Amino acid sequence: MHNRQFHNPPQVCVVAGDDAAPEVVRPTVEILRELAPEIRFTEAPCGREAQARYGTPFPDVTREAIDAADCTLFGASGGPSRPILWYLRWNKETYINVRSVRWIPGYRSPMQHPERIDYVIARDNLEGMYPPREGDVAELAALPSSGSWWMAPPVEKAGAYSIKVSTDEQMQRVANHACQLALQRQAAGYPGRVTLGAKYSIQPRTDGRFRAIVKEAVSQHPSLTYQEFLVDDMARRLVASPEQLDVVVLGNEHGDILADVSSGTIGGLGLSPSACYGEDYAYFEPVHGSAPDLAGQGIINPTAMLLSGALMLDYLGYNKQASALTSAIEQTYREGSLLPVDQGGQAGTSEFVQAIRARLSEHGS
Ligand code: NAD
Ligand code: IPM
Ligand code: MN
Repeated sequence: MHNRQFHNPPQVCVVAGDDAAPEVVRPTVEILRELAPEIRFTEAPCGREAQARYGTPFPDVTREAIDAADCTLFGASGGPSRPILWYLRWNKETYINVRSVRWIPGYRSPMQHPERIDYVIARDNLEGMYPPREGDVAELAALPSSGSWWMAPPVEKAGAYSIKVSTDEQMQRVANHACQLALQRQAAGYPGRVTLGAKYSIQPRTDGRFRAIVKEAVSQHPSLTYQEFLVDDMARRLVASPEQLDVVVLGNEHGDILADVSSGTIGGLGLSPSACYGEDYAYFEPVHGSAPDLAGQGIINPTAMLLSGALMLDYLGYNKQASALTSAIEQTYREGSLLPVDQGGQAGTSEFVQAIRARLSEHGS
């Protein structure tokens, strides 16, 4: 779905992120180095450490390292590294965030039939209510008046507003990417179903337009089927009937929120990877944040980060290594003798990573 030429050997920028994120990023990079020794990893300074050393959480050296690399592996921002995340999204135009939701035996899911959960979320990564554009309600006095009195903004009251923007170009490429994902998955035996979740009933100009664009894009591919649900009902369906989902298309803020719901259905944020693709760049990060409550305890689950690393290996063309890593993780969970703390086990981050590494060497990768 991209036509980028990578460096030979490929170059990866690593941004470890804030709070507990480095505790999953660094062991992930170690495993990736073992799997693909020729890839060049460069860890770039970020966040509080960069602030202390360079006087900014996002120094030029980091921007240069991101630009020079084929892609970036990003931990998570707990605040200080946020400008870097913004750069990876808007400056590198990584327009789509693909968040796979797949239960693996051994994951501690609260669902009765977690074995049916296997779909991907295709989330708009650039628009909607992001980047934040907010202001004072008084500024809305300049808007042309329309509709009934209760629709007019209460400009005489103190308060704030937030803006949602959806461009045709962005909605179109999100829709196209979702179709390509559905086609790819269909070739592997999935049903080829694209399901839109949006608030088209209340926001006809933005979500209504998104609905029309996604529907039209899907209709261009006769083997695919289109389904749509209002996003509140979509949220229920993630829990009540996830087995009916294949590729779920969501706007930016809806995708942010619902991806955490989906993650909850398979067993939690420690397990959910993601990839953000643009035409010329990609970065890989877990769905979870910087888990400040776990920082320094050595118990954060590295699975989401490792699986994001596997998605990166796939992107760079190391498909064999990506599936070796995914299988090693699956086997470790399936066997279940050693599990991370959030999955009901007692293994700390390093012990769990060590178990996965042992599996990988058993299989001679
Ligand atoms: P969070 O995802 O960091 O944590 C939510 C809960 O899940 C916490 O109890 C945490 O301990 C747990 N958790 C998260 N990852 C885990 C893991 N790998 N293993 C085990 N448990 C895990 O969300 P939050 O607490 O709402 O946010 C913390 C910070 O992270 C905030 O500053 C938020 O903005 C940021 N954030 C960043 C990103 C990103 O950089 N892409 C994503 C989400 C949140
Ligand atoms: C995510 C996060 C980010 C978002 C934050 C850190 C800005 O929650 O990637 O899921 O809201 O997109
Ligand atoms: Mn989020």
